[in-house]
Amino acid sequence: MFDVLPQLPADPILGLSAAFKADTNPNKIDLGVGVYRDEAGRTPILDSVAQAQRILMDKEDSKVYISPQGVQGFIDGMLNLILGSELKGSINERIAAVQAPGGCGALRILAELIKRSNSDCTVWVSDPTWANHIPLIGNAGLKIETYPYFDKASASINFDAMKQTLSQVKKGDVVLLHGCCHNPTGADLSKAQWREVLKLAQENEFTPFIDIAYQGFGDGLEEDTYGVRLLCENLPEVAIAASCSKNFGLYRERVGLSAIVTKNAESRQAIQTQIQTIARGIYSMPPSYGGALVDIILNDKDLKAQWEGEVGAMRDRMQSLRQLLATKLKEKGASKDFDFVTQQKGMFSFLCISPEQVLQLRSDFSIYFVESSRVNIAGISLKNVDYLADAMASVL
Ligand code: LMR
Repeated sequence: MFDVLPQLPADPILGLSAAFKADTNPNKIDLGVGVYRDEAGRTPILDSVAQAQRILMDKEDSKVYISPQGVQGFIDGMLNLILGSELKGSINERIAAVQAPGGCGALRILAELIKRSNSDCTVWVSDPTWANHIPLIGNAGLKIETYPYFDKASASINFDAMKQTLSQVKKGDVVLLHGCCHNPTGADLSKAQWREVLKLAQENEFTPFIDIAYQGFGDGLEEDTYGVRLLCENLPEVAIAASCSKNFGLYRERVGLSAIVTKNAESRQAIQTQIQTIARGIYSMPPSYGGALVDIILNDKDLKAQWEGEVGAMRDRMQSLRQLLATKLKEKGASKDFDFVTQQKGMFSFLCISPEQVLQLRSDFSIYFVESSRVNIAGISLKNVDYLADAMASVL
């Protein structure tokens, strides 16, 4: 029976890693998949995570199943991190939440919940959005439409067009928003724009679905939550998918959170049972390990401070690489101004070059990034930036 199925093309993001590995050019550069890299090109285990592993090794005395919602200290720690303890305290009785297997698992649980609540709704995603949003949401059986977001010609958000489309979104529809560090463009909404999105959600009664996978990589751990906190404070319902892959460097441990701000405490109880049965029907319960590490870090004052310092160091490095790339491109006489890269946030930038130019950089220079022109800024280093800027200048 299975031989009726065709072979599928490689994943547009993960497929790049395999192609990069197979390339024998000693100058090759990997700016593809979104993982943090240090100057040596490594993705090290954070010191705070290594310390939490030692603590967990000493204290874990059983591998029996954890509870269906996951590690409670992880859930509370993450909600405090995302919402701040004050807001969390004031709406806690309205929040349903489960630990999920990564940000992807978190998104999928919420997509299934949306499908159970209103199978006719449309989920509106930014144009462009992270490529994997489409199967994660679409495979739950939901309709997807796009709202305009990024204008390649001006390398900036086209907020008027975004507003225009969101003003026509129907009651009961869902709008997917990136909490910070928009993937793939790196272009984030300003505070004033978040306030306008709030107004539109209030007027049209759509439900925001916020994906926050890069908290701390933009302006700071607190600063990056402006939008999510604003919406959760002022709307009756908000869905949030969070990931610990990037800011805790726990990629392979698959640690995420699905949280829903519900209308009231009664509704919270119902929704808590719904998300737990969704999880039970797919993978039963989340893996414990990564959540247990995050629980240890977020609930220990010193370890948390150490982790905050490590997130700050990653953020500062990426910010300085943005500056370096823009300066080098200018020095090399690139026929296009790349100063916009310095204004973008987080791990990614859209270089706003054509797919043909991206493919030429791959074939002629062994520089790998997504065809949309999304680059992982953390893959740049002092060692490879000249090669990269020379190659770009020549392709342009
Ligand atoms: C990315 O956008 O590159 C990362 O989130 C990794 C992935 O799974 O696509």
